[in-house]
Amino acid sequence: MAIVPKPLQKWLMHPAAKPLVFIACLLPFAWLFYGALTNNLGANPAEYLIRAVGDWTLRFLCLTLAVTPLRVITGTPALARFRRMLGLFVYFYVIVHLLSYSWFDMGFDVPEIAKDIAKRPFILVGFSAFLLLTPLAATSFNRAVKALGAKRWQLLHKLVYLIAGLGLLHFFWMRAGKNDFAEVFVYATIIALLLGWRFQQYLKKKRPQPMVTRRRQLS
Ligand code: HEM
Repeated sequence: MAIVPKPLQKWLMHPAAKPLVFIACLLPFAWLFYGALTNNLGANPAEYLIRAVGDWTLRFLCLTLAVTPLRVITGTPALARFRRMLGLFVYFYVIVHLLSYSWFDMGFDVPEIAKDIAKRPFILVGFSAFLLLTPLAATSFNRAVKALGAKRWQLLHKLVYLIAGLGLLHFFWMRAGKNDFAEVFVYATIIALLLGWRFQQYLKKKRPQPMVTRRRQLS
């Protein structure tokens, strides 16, 4: 079922679409960078920056997970062109998040950072999500897909579900200290819907197909 208007479908296939989406993905970073340069990040700029970049990491993770359901539900195969880029932006933002924390909170003191990660469970969970994201980012290129083989590559990239769960747990744990769960609930609902859709597709694939459909596919 194609519910996306034809001109938009066409635009998504345009050679300029990818560079434009790339620029759009960089805008939050540019905005925060500009805010830092002009001293416009509030009373505690370091905290603001770490949190804002953490938020964007989670948003890009949700966007990446949303590509396949949106592609299938709206009948827009062109959306697949943007999945890899969005996934790499999750990694970009988590690196900026990690660097902001390491620099502004910890002064790049590596032994102190290691101690802090081991001591604070919510940071350990975030760090685990970052570690798990690393092989996904490293194997997101065509050559890596070829080298691994499609089956193994797909299996490895299923880690994204675990990463989404860890990212959410990291956020939940951090906000639990403040008893503030409103935003956590919004992200949890989005991620549950996206993963629920995938689970439903998986069950659909496993269910034996009726003979009529199978015969129609064979002819
Ligand atoms: C996929 C990985 C990660 C995601 C999705 C993520 C996401 C988030 C989010 C949404 C927040 C809260 C922002 C807010 O309150 O609005 C946050 C805060 C934070 N995260 Fe992460 N994060 C990740 C990895 C990491 C890593 C690797 C570290 C450091 C080793 C880290 C350290 C922190 C710190 C220090 C805070 C702020 C805590 C505070 O201000 O009290 N995160 N993160």
